[in-house]
Amino acid sequence: MSKDSSRAPGRPRRLRAALALTAAGLMAAAGAVVLPGNASAAETTLGAAAAQSGRYFGTAVAVNRLNDSAYTNILNREFNQVTAENEMKIDALQPQQGQFNWGNGDRLVQHARSRNMQVRGHTLAWHSQQPDWMRNMSGQQLRNAMLNHVTQVATHYRGQIAWWDVVNEAFEDGSSGARRNSNLERTGSDWIEAAFRAARTADPNAQLCYNDYNIDNWNDAKTQAVYRMVRDFKQRGVPIDCVGLQSHFTGGSNYPSNYRTTLSSFAALGVDVHITELDIRNAPSDAYRNTVNDCLAVPRCKGITVWGIRDSDSWRSNESPLLFDGGGNKKAAYNAVLNALNSAAPGGGDPTTPPPGTTPPPGTTPPPTNPGGCTATISPGQVWGDRYNTSVNVSGANTWSVVVNITPPQRISATWSGNPTWDGSGNVMTMRSNGSGNTFGFTTMMNGNSGARPQIVSCTAG
Ligand code: G3I
Repeated sequence: MSKDSSRAPGRPRRLRAALALTAAGLMAAAGAVVLPGNASAAETTLGAAAAQSGRYFGTAVAVNRLNDSAYTNILNREFNQVTAENEMKIDALQPQQGQFNWGNGDRLVQHARSRNMQVRGHTLAWHSQQPDWMRNMSGQQLRNAMLNHVTQVATHYRGQIAWWDVVNEAFEDGSSGARRNSNLERTGSDWIEAAFRAARTADPNAQLCYNDYNIDNWNDAKTQAVYRMVRDFKQRGVPIDCVGLQSHFTGGSNYPSNYRTTLSSFAALGVDVHITELDIRNAPSDAYRNTVNDCLAVPRCKGITVWGIRDSDSWRSNESPLLFDGGGNKKAAYNAVLNALNSAAPGGGDPTTPPPGTTPPPGTTPPPTNPGGCTATISPGQVWGDRYNTSVNVSGANTWSVVVNITPPQRISATWSGNPTWDGSGNVMTMRSNGSGNTFGFTTMMNGNSGARPQIVSCTAG
């Protein structure tokens, strides 16, 4: 699906940004110094500032707090995206089997849509917050109940939800890289893709995301395991559009310095990335600023959601992890976030990142493993309107075969410096060394999909 449903509600921000850029250009021509961070009009709210680069800035909302005017004033002023903190979870929506309770979820959707806020649905399938009747199920009965829940809920909200967290938190923490042992997992490990297929059928226009925590550090086994699942889904055509990184930097988990690599690596698989539940212990300005700048540097990072408005609203209120204090006052981190958003270039990467196509973006390297005895690294090449070049450098061996996956309807139309063979689908190319060196290249026709990029599946020496 290529529909860009994440564009923030239309207001004349582009014009203002363009005028600001024009002014900056005139100043530069006159010899004035244009400071970084002044590239676009300075917006005064988080949502408007994020919208300048086509992103959203949202928050989790507890529906019972909508009666608190201090809370609702900040919500309506600052944010252009919302996620129900609890009201669209399985136990909230289907407390008794077959009896759906739409009241609170509908109230949030209505509040949001009447104010041009986009809605993230959270969450269709999860091992946690299951109602008792579901928790006590197993096997085919549970599989059917889970799929029915996905179908009923996605159908009820069809056309009103920009992104669904279809599956939440299905992987173990720690070094195992394993899937979480849950009642859903015990119905068969294909339960995740079954949930995605059911969601796609029920609401074909919603963007479908996998959402998890502790997948922020690129070197973590859990991050790598989710990466492999998403890569596998893209290769096999399982309908996944996005990955949500919850990014709870609370409870002992910290902002990792390789966060941008994680975002861009997922994006290089051909999915959007979203920061879905951000909060940071004691709200340090630096970590908030870095998180925002990392998202701004990755064109497929579509937006940021903080997990609550005021510290007193937080699930971890004792860590004061949010952007507003209990009195609703803006904290230092708020200003850091707002300034970072205002510094973004319209439409894409941040001012410190060259435009796509001029330099290999970070994160186009494969995971840090070398099981086949060599490593293949992608460098993006020239991009035209209908096609683009890619070169691949192989290290660790002089004779090799590299398997490259292309996302259909894209198709490779030309190759050089290697001997290619193809699988039956035409989507998987195996390139073997032909003695001409350790770099080969190819041209890919976009065929209407300008976003996807090739992925290295394996590199095998010999
Ligand atoms: O509403 C009831 C109240 O009537 C009852 O008296 C009280 C005592 O048990 O519980 C209240 O419900 C609680 C609910 O939050 C609303 O406050 C639940 O017990 C409690 O389990 C629930 O916690 C939520 C948690 O998910 C579990 O679903 C948190 O608010 C919510 O912030 C948190 O959000 C999760 C994301 O969904 C997934 N990622 C992690 C994130 C943080 O844990």
